[in-house]
Amino acid sequence: MNTGMESPQGVWWKPAHRAERLWVGIAFGWCMVLFAMMPLWHLKGGQNPSGIRHRVNPQAYANRTDEFIRTYQVAEEAGIPVVEPPPGSDVYLLGAMWSWRPILKLRKGVEYTLHLSSVDVNHGFNLYPINLNFQVIPGYDYGLRVTPTEAGDFRIVCNEFCGVGHHLMVGKVIVVDDGGGP
Ligand code: CUA
Repeated sequence: MNTGMESPQGVWWKPAHRAERLWVGIAFGWCMVLFAMMPLWHLKGGQNPSGIRHRVNPQAYANRTDEFIRTYQVAEEAGIPVVEPPPGSDVYLLGAMWSWRPILKLRKGVEYTLHLSSVDVNHGFNLYPINLNFQVIPGYDYGLRVTPTEAGDFRIVCNEFCGVGHHLMVGKVIVVDDGGGP
């Protein structure tokens, strides 16, 4: 009779069933596969941005962008300068409530270092219709090595809520195919 005062019969000293050992083995093996994928995918997956990020004074970044605009401006569209930087150069894009400056005119198949930063609050860089997303943070200069692979007109849509003008914050990147490139 069980009075409730005696401990129940244990079974843990019996050897594990074959099926249980098999499943523990499969689970352990899968853990090892996932563990190996972390460093492997970091190196082989090609999904990591080639970013260099460092601190920057927001005003200094704005001044650098203005200098960049003065040096390479080729036109103007609705009050926003259009800038055509030389191949391989450092390209500066500034997010501010609620615009992107300047409009960038880039060449297909040519590498640039695209710098992103904000002068006020967090903005989101989303290149439409390509699914490219980056945080644009005041105080940080985010430098990305980019090579446009498609010619066309692209929009930079802010995808980080940044105030009442957030939905109006649209910029532009023009990629031209001059048949050249490497
Ligand atoms: Cu900038 Cu939303």
